[in-house]
Amino acid sequence: MSDTAEMVTAVYDTIGEERPSDDNVAPHDDEYMIRCENLVKIYKTDEVEVVALQGLDLDVKRGELMAIVGNSGSGKSTLLNMLGGLDKPSAGSLFVDGKNLLKFSDRDYMEYKRNTVGFVWQNNARNLIPYLTAVQNVELPMLLKGAKQRRKRALELLEKVGLSHRKNSRLDQMSGGEQQRVAIAIALANGPRLLLADEPTGSVDTRTSNIILDIFKKLNETEGLTVVIVTHDVKLSKRIDRVVAIRDGRTSSEIVRKRSYAQELDEMGNIVGAAETEGEETHEELVVLDRSGRLQLSKDHMEKLGVKGGDKLKAEFDEETGRVVLFRSDG
Ligand SMILES: Nc1ncnc2c1ncn2[C@@H]1O[C@H](COP(=O)(O)OP(=O)(O)OP(=O)(O)O)[C@@H](O)[C@H]1O
Ligand SMILES: [Mg+2]
Repeated sequence: MSDTAEMVTAVYDTIGEERPSDDNVAPHDDEYMIRCENLVKIYKTDEVEVVALQGLDLDVKRGELMAIVGNSGSGKSTLLNMLGGLDKPSAGSLFVDGKNLLKFSDRDYMEYKRNTVGFVWQNNARNLIPYLTAVQNVELPMLLKGAKQRRKRALELLEKVGLSHRKNSRLDQMSGGEQQRVAIAIALANGPRLLLADEPTGSVDTRTSNIILDIFKKLNETEGLTVVIVTHDVKLSKRIDRVVAIRDGRTSSEIVRKRSYAQELDEMGNIVGAAETEGEETHEELVVLDRSGRLQLSKDHMEKLGVKGGDKLKAEFDEETGRVVLFRSDG
C-alpha cells in the first residue's frame, strides 16, 4: 500500500467517517449539479504529504449561485480544481452533472473540461493571450474545438459581459477588470453548465467587483448557469445568498440570507431594506450538521465558551424554546 493510501485511511479514521465506496455513496439526484461527499485530497511532494481536503461535503443545486469562503490554505482552490477536473481527488465521492468524477478516465476528464465546466481564475493571464484582440481571444477555445460560427458566438459572448465596444482592442490595452470580463466570456465559450471562479475579483476594485458579480448573477438568472465563486471579498460574499465556509479542508459553516430580496421591497416596489449594502443583519451564520449528526463550532463560539477541540460539552434540549443548548460540563 502506498503512503497516500495509508494516509487516506488515516484521514477517515480521524474524522470517523466511512470511506465512500460504490456501496455506500449517496445515489445521484438530478436536482444537484454538485454532490461531494467525504472528499479527501492529499498532495504528495518530495518531503511531505499535505491533507488539503479532509472529508469535505458540499451539495450545490442546479441553477444555484453560491460562494465558498475560508482562510488561506483551507482548501478552496483545491476543491475548485477537483470540481473543474484539473486534478483528481484521492478518495471520497464526487458527482458533477450526474457524472462520477472518481471513475473518470483521462479521456473523460478531457471531455468534461471541454463541455461541462468553465473556469475563471484571479490571474487571468492563464486564460488570455495579450497580443490578440478580445474577440480573437474568445474565439480561440472554439477554434480548438472546431465549433462553427465562432465569430458570431464570440461577439454574443462579449455582449453578455458588456464589452462589445472593446471587441477589437488588444488584451494588453485593456484594464484588469475588462480583461477579467474577457476571461468570463472565454469560460462561457463552450457553453458550460457549471461556471467555477477562483477569486475572480481578487485584483479589481469594488465597483468592478460588483460588475463582475452582476454578470455572474445575470448568467445564473437568465441561462440557469450554476455558479460557484471562491472569494476573500467580504463585500462580494454579502451579495450572495448562500456562502459556505471551509476550514482545514472541511465544510465548517454556512451563511444564508435571512430575508429575501422581495421582503426588502415596500408596497410600491421600492427597495427599502439595505439588501445590497453591508451589514451583518442580512446574513446569519449556520453550523452545518454532517450526515452523521456531527457539527463544527466556529472559532468565535469556541472562544466565547472557553473551550478547545477535544473538550466535552453538555447538550440539553430546552422544551420551552425547542432548542438544543450547548454548555461547558464544568460551568
Ligand atoms: N500542488 C500542491 N502540492 C502540494 N501542496 C499543495 C498543492 N496545492 C495546494 N497545496 C496545499 O494544500 C492546502 C490547501 O491549499 P489551497 O490552495 O487549496 O488553499 P486556498 O484555500 O485556496 O488558499 P488561498 O486562499 O491562499 O488561495 C495548503 O496547505 C497548500 O499548501
Ligand atoms: Mg486559493
